[in-house]
Parts: sequence; C-alpha cells; structure tokens
Amino acid sequence: MRKKIVAGNWKMNLNKLEAQVLFRAIDASPKPENIELIIFPVSVHLGKLADVSSTIALGVQNFYPEEKGAFTGELSVTQAKDSGAEYALIGHSERRSIFGEDAELLRSKVDAAIEHGLVPVFCCGEPLELREIGEQDDYVKAQLIDSLFHLDKDQILKCIIAYEPVWAIGTGITATSDQAEEMHAAIRQWLEEKYGRAVADIVPILYGGSCNPSNAGELFACPNVDGGLIGGASLDAISFMTIAGSF
Ligand code: PGA
Repeated sequence: MRKKIVAGNWKMNLNKLEAQVLFRAIDASPKPENIELIIFPVSVHLGKLADVSSTIALGVQNFYPEEKGAFTGELSVTQAKDSGAEYALIGHSERRSIFGEDAELLRSKVDAAIEHGLVPVFCCGEPLELREIGEQDDYVKAQLIDSLFHLDKDQILKCIIAYEPVWAIGTGITATSDQAEEMHAAIRQWLEEKYGRAVADIVPILYGGSCNPSNAGELFACPNVDGGLIGGASLDAISFMTIAGSF
C-alpha cells in the first residue's frame, strides 16, 4: 500500500504566534490513522515548531542547494535539515514563475535534498494555456524528465510527486477528479516506463490546487491520488484536519 500524505503549504503567511497556535491546534486534533501529515511553514518558524509535535513532520518551502557559503539571503540544504525539516518543496509553480527557478536549478535542488536526507516533494503542473490546447501531458512529463527522472531507482523511491495544475493554485478552481486521476495515472505510467512497476507502485503522487474540505473526498478517492498538497485551506486547523480525514 502506498503512503497517504496530506501536506500544508503555508506559503508566506502567519506571524510566529499565529504559526504556533495553528500548529498546536493541528497537533491537538484527532489524527486519522495511517495518514502522514507534513507542514511547510516559513523557514524562520521551523525551529519554533520543531519541538512541538512528534506526529507532524516539517518541511521547507525552499532552500539553496549548497551546504554553505557566500549566498546572501539563502537557506542552505544543511541548515534546512538542521532546523528540523524532513521534507522540501521543489519546483512549486510560484518558485518557477515568480523567482525564475529553471529546470537545471530544480534538478540540483533534487540532488542536494537526496544527498542530505531531505525528502523532495517535487511539484509539477501545467499552465492554463497548455491545458486549453491539450498539451498538459507533454509539459508535465518534460518537467519530470528535466529535473527528477535522472535519479536512480533507490533515489526516486525517496521522493514524493505533487501534481499542481497552475490554473488551480489559489484560484478556487479545482481540477475535477477525472482530470486529476488522468494526470496522476499518466505520471504513474511514466514512472513505470522509467523505473518499473514495483517502483511506480510506491511513489506517492499528491494533488494540489484549491483542494478543500468539500472536494478532498472525491479527489482522494481516485486510485492514483495519494493525498494532497494544501495551500489556502491548510491555514485553518479544522479545514486542514477535515481534508486529512477525507480518505
Ligand atoms: P492552494 O495552493 O491550495 O491555495 O490552491 C496549493 C499549493 O500551492 O501548494
């Protein structure tokens, strides 16, 4: 059985107190069994949250793929780990589009994360223009080939993939469960072609993009959807835990 995962991407929200209150509220909620919960806070809050919970894992929204050095303003891969992160978002569409992160940088982030024991949560997803002309599969496949599929079998088994159609992120428009399942099944097929069936059966593929308590159940019921990467709806404990309880 594949791992089921619900992750909250808090993006650039919450002050220190708000982050602690929300994290404690999530921690105090009854947890659905066999669901892994991960929170991606802003990195300056990691240290404050790391000691609070032994059941909620933490991740970084971003890091720089070097151990140390003259990279003013950046958080190194080792500092991310040292602050309590076990997971790292890589390739989120906001990092690609707003901060110009390209396939080559993302590939080196994937390598640095693997080398230093952070689990990459590799995000992929097409913009609306490409979905409208039916080119979403080629686009997403290229994102995976360019920055993730250079890994070997053992390494890819340490990764999580998140399909996040750009047109669904923060827009209130969710992919239908058919659209999500179609892409997730395609991603699993590409994993199988590259790494074989046994590996493809293990790598979790999460859906992200306006996932909320009302649509999570239908999305998570899809055979190839192994959970969600939740933005806006993760900023409220009840809403996040309702999503986590939607399998
Ligand atoms: P959203 O964000 O749930 O607010 O659409 C998801 C994400 O960007 O990871």
